[in-house]
Amino acid sequence: MDAGDSTHPLPDNHHGLHYMAFMAHISRARDSRRYLEIGVSQGHLLSHIHTETAIAVDPSFQISFNVSENKKAVTLIQAPSDTFFAEYDYEALANGTLDLAFLDGMHTFEYLLRDFYNTEAISSNRTLIVMHDCMPLNAEMADRDQKRSAETGVSTRFPYHWTGDVWKIIPILQTYRPDLRVIYVDCPPTGLVCVTNLDPHSSILKDCYFQIVDEFRALKNDLDAIGAMYRGIEITSSAVITNDHDLTLYFGG
Ligand SMILES: C[S@@+](CC[C@H](N)C(=O)[O-])C[C@H]1O[C@@H](n2cnc3c(N)ncnc32)[C@H](O)[C@@H]1O
Repeated sequence: MDAGDSTHPLPDNHHGLHYMAFMAHISRARDSRRYLEIGVSQGHLLSHIHTETAIAVDPSFQISFNVSENKKAVTLIQAPSDTFFAEYDYEALANGTLDLAFLDGMHTFEYLLRDFYNTEAISSNRTLIVMHDCMPLNAEMADRDQKRSAETGVSTRFPYHWTGDVWKIIPILQTYRPDLRVIYVDCPPTGLVCVTNLDPHSSILKDCYFQIVDEFRALKNDLDAIGAMYRGIEITSSAVITNDHDLTLYFGG
């Protein structure tokens, strides 16, 4: 089934490479030396990333994987991302500029909006920011309330897949940052949104924060609204991206 069909507004699934395999490939193929992950939990994804330096941020780590695999240095900052961005100097901590970031912290759109603009502010125009969980597959997983999502989603095809309403970052960036290059990738379970052509000096999202929050809080978080988001994007195959020898076609140099 195609995304955006009016009788079935959401895709039935994402059929590409699992997001961890995709991220492992991207980190190797782009020779990413400095990696930032917001929202780390057990460190499962982090253990797959190839990099020299990783900074990992989570208010409540549950590390149970070998996160030092394929890295020279890993720094764990046990704090909410807002605290991390307010109190730490990324470049001093990582000894250089950010190459690759994965945003997977609190799953409500206003948190992801702040994580995005704070990460962009420490980026260069070569940095790639990847956001998780922005392409939900039903309304239950998109509920802002994680507990209610677990209760209503338990009898769906995707129990305990909580995305919250971070999908709203897609129309936010389309509206406020048309200058960004955004690629929507079909990685299960819930898609990846890859952003390049970043501008660390852009203050539009931060300056308009309350206007954006009020505008997008008013946007419904239901099947029709999520379906409209899907009709406004084109999904790229992760298999095509990872088979291509030249990733600069997608993500720049
Ligand atoms: C889905 S898990 C991350 C999974 C991990 N990225 C992976 O793929 O293996 C989400 C994590 O976000 C963390 N989190 C929640 N609020 C946060 C915040 N304000 N800042 C940073 N992380 C947060 C939670 O503690 C949780 O561990």
